[in-house]
Formats: sequence, C-alpha cells, structure tokens
Amino acid sequence: MSSNSQAFDEWIRHRFVALNSELEQRYAQQADRANVVGVGDDLKQQLESEGRALISALLAEGNTDQGFDKAFDLLGSVGLYMAACRRHEITEPSRETTSPLVEASALAMHIGASIGVTPRFATAHLTTHNRAVNGVYKRFTDLPDEKIFVDYNTRGILAYKRAADALLKILPLGIAHPITQDLLQVAERALQDVIDANDQLFDKLDTDQFFYCVRPYYKPHRVGQQVYRGANAGDFAGINVIDMLLGLCFANEPSYSQILVDKFLYMMPEDQLILRDSMRRTSLMDSFLEHQADRDQDWYQTNLRHFLAVCERHGDTAIQHHDQLVSKYIEKPSAHIEQQHIEKITASGPPLHVLLGALEKLRDRRAAAPRTDIRTRHDDIAHLKSLLVPS
Ligand code: HEM
Repeated sequence: MSSNSQAFDEWIRHRFVALNSELEQRYAQQADRANVVGVGDDLKQQLESEGRALISALLAEGNTDQGFDKAFDLLGSVGLYMAACRRHEITEPSRETTSPLVEASALAMHIGASIGVTPRFATAHLTTHNRAVNGVYKRFTDLPDEKIFVDYNTRGILAYKRAADALLKILPLGIAHPITQDLLQVAERALQDVIDANDQLFDKLDTDQFFYCVRPYYKPHRVGQQVYRGANAGDFAGINVIDMLLGLCFANEPSYSQILVDKFLYMMPEDQLILRDSMRRTSLMDSFLEHQADRDQDWYQTNLRHFLAVCERHGDTAIQHHDQLVSKYIEKPSAHIEQQHIEKITASGPPLHVLLGALEKLRDRRAAAPRTDIRTRHDDIAHLKSLLVPS
C-alpha cells in the first residue's frame, strides 16, 4: 500500500468513524431525529475537507495498478466517504447536477471503470470483502447497531453463497446423480443458516437506531454526474443463482431480468460471471418436470424430496426478509417519519410503496405463492409434490 493509501485507510478507520459518530449523536438529540440541516456544521466541514485532502493526494499519485484487491479496497474507502457526505447532506443529488466532491468522483470513476464495478461503495465493501484490523472492520460509525446490521448481513450473504455453490455443483452431475442428494442437503442447511441469522438480526437490531443512524448511509448519491443507487444486501450473485437454478424465478421475465441488469456492476467481477452463467442454465425444477416419467425410481423420489425442501427453505427466507425485516425496519418506521424526509428513505430511490410492491413480488416468486398477475411456480410445485410417494 502506498503511503497515501495508508494515510487514507488510517483516516477512514479512525477519524472518519469518530466524526460520523459525533454527528449521529447530535442528530439524535433533536425532536425530529431525521433532520440533519444546521447541525454539526463544523464537523461536517472537517469531514469534507480532511477527506478531500487525502483523496487529492491519491488522485495526483494516479497509481491504481496495485492489483484488484487493493484497488477495490481503495474504492470502498472513497465510497464510504462519499456516502457519508451524502448522509450528512454535504452533497444532495436533487440539489446538484454533478457531485461537488470532484476529486473523490474522479478517483472512484477511475478505479470503478478500470476494475469493472460501479464507482461507489457496494455491499461487498462493507461485508464479504471488508478486512478487519485488530478485530475491527471498516464502518461508518462506532454505533453497536451498525455492527449488528453488518455482521448479520455478512452472515446471511455468506450462507446464501454456500447454498448457491452447492446448487451450482449439481449442474454437471444432474438430478439423477446419487451425490445430488448431498448437495441439496447442503443447500437446505445453508438456507436454514440464513433464517437463523435473520432471526437473530430481528431480535438484536434496534428499529430507531437502524432507521435513523444506519440506513441513511445507504442512500443514492452522485459520482460525477450520475446518481448511483444505494448498496443493499442483495448485491451478490448467490441469491439470484438460487432463484434461477431452483427455477422459482425466470431470467427472461422482464421485471426479474431488470433486477439482474441493474445489479451487475454492484457485484464483484467474479459474481458477475457466475450470474451470467446461471442465466443460461436449465433449472432443476424444469429437469424434474422433464423426467417425471422416472417418478418410480428411487433416485427421483429421494432427490425430488430434497429439492422441494430446498425450494421451501428459500421461500421461507424471502418471507422472513419481507414480512419481518422490511416490515419492522423500513415500512413501520416510515409511517411515523415527517413528510419532508419520506422520499429519501429507500436505497434504490423509487417511492416506498413501489419498492415494497417489487419486494413483495420477489417474495411471492421465491415462495411459489399463488398469484395471477405474475408468473410463479405454484402449480408446478404442487404437481411435483403430487409425484412424491408418501414416506
Ligand atoms: C434488498 C431491507 C437485511 C437480503 C432489500 C431492500 C430493502 C431491504 C428495503 C430493497 C433495496 C432498496 O432499499 O432499494 C432490509 C432490511 C434488513 C435487511 C430492513 C435488516 C434490517 C437483509 C439480510 C439479507 C438481505 C440480512 C441477507 C443476505 C436482501 C436481498 C435484497 C435485499 C437479497 C435484494 C432484493 C432481493 O433479491 O430480494 N433489503 N434488508 N437483506 N435484501 Fe435486505
């Protein structure tokens, strides 16, 4: 790491966290906790100018050829800085046509374009690719609820990835292979781990702390001229690999493929490759339907039973995400927030009711719920269940 990179990393891990944490404390003392205007202007100014000086030195150095990991890590730090400036309304995309953080934008765009990712911080920067030093990884604040949120997001993402890896390994073996059963069991176990992690998150995370002090760092902001949506825990390939390999969602359905198209650059390059590959594959569900003439074979009965259990578990994670996490931490607190802050709530930008409708459709596809307005696998799952011999 160059001395300029090291100085910036040091600043992000300490001083940046201290400034954000102090600002959070000041906002929390107000009657309207969502307001940031006119509070801690001296601290905001320090945050903006100290970060700018360190980033200017890096931009002048112009040395991004230090390998992918270092470049990605540096992009994460610049991204955290830009997201914090957005959170404190040092920048505000509807007020500006181009980001006033000129040097940070230039550095982020240089790195993002050169390594093939979006020029802002993405979920991987905070979760799966966030190196800890002395037990502490990069973060915005020292608030315990931010740590709880990131810890459980990381656990959930890693568990989804384990499930996706197991399903991908079935592809060369096929549904008739004796070891496919083992891989389906691994996937089911991993999805149960997602459920367990989400349950703990639901118990431990304080609603107000999350809503007022954690979530605001995940808002859309400009880099250069363009507004980039906020990061969310779904920005990795695994969740969609599971959707498509199980056959619960379709890559050729417009509203689902829109999600995929929009998220490509928010994922690590290796995830982009995995996602592209699984968009071309025949799903396990279609394979089981195609081979239903083999229903009397032992392998068919065994593997189908495990396959259906994995589908059910995946649906359960989606129901839990929507009916517990989104409802408790986004929908309900939004009902109490003052009108002038309401349009700034979501990470992706659309109005809340539009976002909730889209998430509800995802839940129902994954849960193979009966719906007439969108295509779900409700009837196919019911048919496959009818092929099982009672055990
Ligand atoms: C997306 C809320 C935790 C997985 C989203 C979105 C919201 C949300 C509102 C839509 C993105 C946007 O705002 O534009 C929450 C809340 C959480 C939470 C309130 C906890 C307090 C998690 C965890 C996981 C997860 C732990 C597990 C990995 C996803 C996925 C998406 C997503 C996969 C992308 C959409 C999809 O494919 O379903 N989340 N989330 N979330 N979240 Fe969460």
